[in-house]
Amino acid sequence: MPSSKAVIFVIFGLAGDLSWRKLCPALFNLYLDKRLPEKFLIIGTGRSPQDTKALNKHLSEGIQKFSRQTYADEDLQTFLKALCYHQLDLKDSTAYESLASQIKQQEKDWQTEKETEQLYYMATPPASFGQIASMLGKVGLAKNRSHARLVLEKPFGHDLESALQLNKDLQAHFDESQIYRIDHYLGKETVQNILAFRFANPMFEPIWNRHYIDHVTITVAEDIGIENRADYYENAGALRDMIQNHILQLLCLVAMEPPISFEANEVRNKKVNVLHSIRPIEESHAYQMAVRGQYNSGWIQGEPVDEYRKEANVKPKSNTETFAAVKLFVDNWRWRDVPFYLRTGKRLTEKVSEISIRFRDVPHQAFPSSATLGYQPGRLVICIQPTEGIVLKFHAKQPGQELRIVPVNMHFCYNEAFNQRVPEAYETLLWDAVEGDATLFMRADQVEAAWQIVMPILNFWAANPPIDFPNYAAGTWGPQTAEGLIAADGRYWLNPTSLDGCYPSTIDNKVSEKATAAKAASKQGASKNRDKKQPNAKPDMVKA
Ligand code: BG6
Repeated sequence: MPSSKAVIFVIFGLAGDLSWRKLCPALFNLYLDKRLPEKFLIIGTGRSPQDTKALNKHLSEGIQKFSRQTYADEDLQTFLKALCYHQLDLKDSTAYESLASQIKQQEKDWQTEKETEQLYYMATPPASFGQIASMLGKVGLAKNRSHARLVLEKPFGHDLESALQLNKDLQAHFDESQIYRIDHYLGKETVQNILAFRFANPMFEPIWNRHYIDHVTITVAEDIGIENRADYYENAGALRDMIQNHILQLLCLVAMEPPISFEANEVRNKKVNVLHSIRPIEESHAYQMAVRGQYNSGWIQGEPVDEYRKEANVKPKSNTETFAAVKLFVDNWRWRDVPFYLRTGKRLTEKVSEISIRFRDVPHQAFPSSATLGYQPGRLVICIQPTEGIVLKFHAKQPGQELRIVPVNMHFCYNEAFNQRVPEAYETLLWDAVEGDATLFMRADQVEAAWQIVMPILNFWAANPPIDFPNYAAGTWGPQTAEGLIAADGRYWLNPTSLDGCYPSTIDNKVSEKATAAKAASKQGASKNRDKKQPNAKPDMVKA
């Protein structure tokens, strides 16, 4: 239940895609779940005038498309009554003054002066973040240190230098404790569960180190392309878009030391320690630690797709990477010399995110070799999406007179274990921002440390343009060089793990049957692609 008395959300860029797809559906779901106090107001801003009826219709369509729960139209209409539009040119100080008076008046009407939570959400292009913060500061809207908060989305800068400048601009008017930088991966239930799994169970922590773990792989694969986001993506690429933020955050959760408490800064301190422990990559050795790729045309689930260079607004000779794989080491007592292999890409075989913790082999194999033909070192797989759960892969004796040791799975699956829908990441994050809980948000030093890690690779890539792009077919697992990166250490990527019988718990129960059928069909397509396009991929373990 809400602990705040009243809340005002100011969304800069209400007419944009982020508001349409994510923010309004998330706020509406919080409203349906009675997470918002009765006194709440959403003020959307934008440069052009908006007709309320047309705007409501547009937002309703987004809600209908992306809401995770079904709802009565009456609820939607009541929700929309709490939403108003404020035309505001980002550079016009008088528009901010009138915004400030509107907020002041509302607080007065509610009799919640100085107690209203005020969230200023920047759903605008990043170039305007500094300016919005400065204007809010000038009209006094940053003053209430305990209740006024800035919420912003990545990219937090384009490189280390611009990230430092952005932090400086934001902190000129807001205290760091008022700045909530969203990494939406941290709002995902499965990602939050990594901490519960590691620190609420006594049996994993003793083996969670270099003595038992051989290596860790983190895969965040997408089958979609860039979805008309060329303006952003052409200047970003996979390393900036996914590794600098989401994937490094996953790595932190796997590698961090146990926190003393779950107080926001304690958790963030432990995470930033991991980033500071990552062995710096020397620019001249970046080619040994990172590889890049760009997709060519190919097939995704039976449909032909174009190469990256033919996507709308992409330069015909673009050298932007749509795939990146990086090898990192965390130089501390726990992880010294355990490689962390990270990979991500667009237009890969399927959408799947998972973390695979590969255990060391047994020190001595006592079984005859005929018994261990299917042997594969044990591993623990944290399945982040689309199906959510954890699989422990170990060995068992196959029933029968002959001695056969085969790999088997033990699994935990969200939709089996919990009879409830998992909230969307944005719901969790918006709720936490209202409550003033910054645990799942990025602090300035985390962002800066993450940029520091990837800068040598970015610099090396900028100085040495690729000569083999496009270098992987859409619908495969990426370029051969990614195999080479891990094979150089005598290891290999494994195909993603399947959580049989599970389906994503974010989907409405009514559509689960449809989704299960669609998943089965897409898996068939995916495995066709796998068989055809990835002859080198090692088979996943034999199913129990
Ligand atoms: C965003 C990236 O941060 O994350 C996108 O900018 C990417 O390029 C998206 O598609 C992936 O998020 P999710 O939650 O679908 O895995």
